[in-house]
Formats: sequence, C-alpha cells, structure tokens
Amino acid sequence: MSKLAIIGGTGLAHLSNLKIINKQMVHTPFGPASAPLITGELCSESIIFIARHGHGHTIPPHKINYQANIWALKSLDVEQIIAVAAVGGITEQMSPKSIVIPEQLIDYTYGREHTFFNDDFNPERHIDFTQPYNQRLRKAMLTAAESVDFAVVDNGVYAATQGPRLETAAEIKKLENDGCDIVGMTGMPEAALARELDMHYATCAVVANWAAGKCKNEITMQEIETNLIDGMKNVRELLEKTLPRVL
Ligand code: HPA
Repeated sequence: MSKLAIIGGTGLAHLSNLKIINKQMVHTPFGPASAPLITGELCSESIIFIARHGHGHTIPPHKINYQANIWALKSLDVEQIIAVAAVGGITEQMSPKSIVIPEQLIDYTYGREHTFFNDDFNPERHIDFTQPYNQRLRKAMLTAAESVDFAVVDNGVYAATQGPRLETAAEIKKLENDGCDIVGMTGMPEAALARELDMHYATCAVVANWAAGKCKNEITMQEIETNLIDGMKNVRELLEKTLPRVL
C-alpha cells in the first residue's frame, strides 16, 4: 500500500469528513510546513492531509514554503499526492465550478525556492518532467469521475502564475496563445519538488472564475468563494471515489 496525501488549497482548508487520528507539525531543513500534517481516515482509507495556505488560510501563494511541505510529506513516507487547487478558466470548456484534471503545465512563477537540488542536496540531478503529472493518479480520478453526476474535464494545460494579484486581460490572452487552459498560483514549484523526491503527483483543479478578460464583469472574491463552495463539494465526492483506486 502506497501512502497518499491530499494537499488542500483555497476552499479546501480542511476535509470535513476526515476522521482525524493524529496531527503533527513537521519541521524540515527548509523550515516548518504550512500547517500540521493530519493523519486520518477518509471513507475508511488512511490518508494524510495538509492545508497548503496554512490552517487559517494565512499564507499567500508566493510565500508558501513548498519545499517544507513536500519534504514534510516525504518524511512521513508519503509516496503519492493529490493536489487540490483553485484556478481561473481560460478556454471554453473551463467554466466556473468545473473540475479539471490537467495533463500539462507551464511555469510562469519566479523567485520561489523551486528545487531541492542546491548546494549539498545532490547538486547535479535533472528530473525528467516531460509529463509533470502522474498518469496513474490522473486516470484513477478520471475513472472515479465516471460514477459522479458532474463533469470532470480530462486534459488541459495549467499555467502557474506568481500572484497574489490576478492577471491582466492581456496576460491571459498571452497564456491562451501559449496553449494554457487554466491558471492558478500554486501548482509550481510544488509539482516539480514532488518529482524531485520521487513522489507521484497529480492535480485536481476547481475553476473558481473566468480568468481576466474572459467575462465582462470584474472578478470578485465573492464570486470565487461562491463557486468554490459548490466546486469543492464535488471535489470531496471525487476524492472519496478515487481513494479506493489508488490505495
Ligand atoms: N488566476 C490565477 N489564480 C487563480 C484564479 C485566476 O483567475 N482564480 C483562482 N485562482
């Protein structure tokens, strides 16, 4: 059995149906993780959960200690990660409240600690990142999606932007020209750090809003929060149906 962790993003700071067995704050060579790592049971399956933005959602995307979070999970022998993330929808299929299992990503972030391979930490490794997401985890979510009554989009390119501000309309147009379908602020370096530590990683994205310039109205936090409440309800159901397939 291969231990699995769920990284919860905006809108999923806790899993309401998780039976908590243990909570522990893990300190790493890179500092503390965002929040205590919670070991628990979700529908009788044992998992670990961490809130990416901290317990009270206090850590903005560019300040998250991605190295510490991934290292902490590895230190608890986690081998596979499902990362839940709120995103903006760029292309037509990616309408608010949709769930997307992206297949590719492009990294537009900067100034983040993005690798473990510095200095004494094995300086000369170059991970293969051709396929940034683990196909087995992706397929497990997509197969689980066959027995739910909401649509789950298979494929799509995730653009990782720096944040914390949302993008300009011109930036979104550029991302679309680059081939991106959804945009979020936390997908990198998280995915690459997991690969560096040989952990399987896939993203379950929830569309919170149309990206900048993709609808007439201004993007409001109210709109994002409302869409995430419905979207995350579906994510919880999808996760519950996915776990038996990967544990
Ligand atoms: N852009 C970037 N990140 C996001 C968005 C967005 O429009 N919505 C939710 N996270």
